[in-house]
Amino acid sequence: MRVPRALKYLLILIASLVALLVLAATFVNRSVEARLKKTYDVPVEPIEVPSDPAAIERGRHLVSTILFCQECHGEDLAGKTQFNDPLSGTVSAKNLTAGAGGIGGEFSDSDWVRAIRHGVNQEGRPLITMPSNSFYYIGDADLGALIAYLKSLPPVDNELPKRDLGLFYQLTILSNSSLIPAEVIDHQAPRPPTPEPGVNAQYGKYLTTACTICHGADLTGRSAAGAGLDLTGAGDLAEWNEADFIRAVRTGVRPRGADLNPSLMPWKRVGKLTDEELRAIWLYLQTLQ
Ligand code: HEC
Ligand code: HEC
Repeated sequence: MRVPRALKYLLILIASLVALLVLAATFVNRSVEARLKKTYDVPVEPIEVPSDPAAIERGRHLVSTILFCQECHGEDLAGKTQFNDPLSGTVSAKNLTAGAGGIGGEFSDSDWVRAIRHGVNQEGRPLITMPSNSFYYIGDADLGALIAYLKSLPPVDNELPKRDLGLFYQLTILSNSSLIPAEVIDHQAPRPPTPEPGVNAQYGKYLTTACTICHGADLTGRSAAGAGLDLTGAGDLAEWNEADFIRAVRTGVRPRGADLNPSLMPWKRVGKLTDEELRAIWLYLQTLQ
């Protein structure tokens, strides 16, 4: 049987398109894998990790309010699968406790520092989506307290699936390099001393270090800003006062418009800050034009 000429050309066209797609997919896979295989020799600062109850309580306070670890690692910090499907693949936020499947039992203090501050694992390889770029400026004393708290967590057994990136997520990484924080962190950048706690704008700025995970490095919301993400004077906050702000993060009720959605904006955590801490944050937000 003779294949009609038109059909023959159509088949050649389809075969070429498939070949092209396979080539493109291979390229994406290779280039992302190469970036994830890179090793980072980062300066892991020696940090004193205390074990007294006051420090552990400080660590617990930071984690449960403004560091947002539980948003991804789960309320008990025993880890949570972020996504797991054939197109995106699998990424899990690690089990941070010393239970089965957890890293708590095998991490040294410098392993914690390397992961939290630099976004790099024990082998020197980059972590993905773990927002270390937002944690880089946590001061030594607070990072020590945070690690002290993590080490005090009750062990929870929770084995999570291993990381295995699908094509869609690899494409997302190609278009957004901050998903590999180790690539965007300046690992040598000096860390200014932690400001004195109190109702002052400098301390307020320090307390918003992890708000940047969602509101962007300059708190203007990312370039593709969603509603409510701009916390500067250019956004709706220009018409709020201190009481409006404190009510919003304590109750989720905005002065105008829809209430804050707790699954988007973790106000139930932020609202657990003390009055002084919230007033410091408000003072800082007032300085952003
Ligand atoms: C936006 C989600 C998110 C937040 C918030 C987050 N993490 Fe993670 N974290 C992850 C993911 C995802 C991984 C796994 C990364 C990977 O497999 O490459 C991870 C991995 C880790 C690791 C493991 C390092 C290793 O070598 O395997 C540690 C330690 C860690 N996170 C601690 C924290 C702490 C402490 C906080 C809060 C201060 C925090 N994370 C906040 C998503 C998050
Ligand atoms: C996990 C992502 C996330 C984190 C972390 C986060 N926010 Fe938000 N925030 C949002 C989103 C999304 C909205 C819009 C919510 C909505 O419209 O329901 C929002 C809204 C707000 C609003 C209301 C703004 C408006 O114009 O109505 C304020 C105030 C706010 N956030 C403050 C903060 C502060 C302060 C921090 C850090 C202590 C913080 N947020 C951390 C995601 C986040």
